[in-house]
Amino acid sequence: MKILLILLLLVNTAQADPFPKGKFAAGKKVFEQAECKRCHIEMIGGDGSEIFTRPDRKVLNPTMLIKHLKICDSKTAIDISAQDELNLAAYLNKLYYKFP
Ligand code: HEC
Repeated sequence: MKILLILLLLVNTAQADPFPKGKFAAGKKVFEQAECKRCHIEMIGGDGSEIFTRPDRKVLNPTMLIKHLKICDSKTAIDISAQDELNLAAYLNKLYYKFP
């Protein structure tokens, strides 16, 4: 019985995903189409991705990620839907934030 519980826990952790409805590939595409990197590169240099991994980064949990996406979305030239937001969140979480 104990073993079963431990197994269940393991399976659960492996599947943990704060953005189950977000799609990585679609998020990558929006990230490129919306030129998300542009300002981040200006701000922090390199390929801009350090903005997501800097020690004093702003986003500390999945809720904050969605909140921040809403701020940045409004600065891009294209319209970003709620689904795109989830896709972007899934993309950024998988690459950088890694929230369980
Ligand atoms: C007009 C400029 C601009 C554009 C375009 C832009 N961003 Fe940003 N972004 C910023 C700035 C400036 C910050 C840093 C804000 C801060 O430090 O308070 C930031 C920070 C972020 C953060 C938080 C990083 C952290 O500290 O954890 C995320 C996530 C993010 N941007 C995502 C995006 C996405 C996704 C797009 C494209 C849809 C995008 N941004 C487009 C200017 C921009």
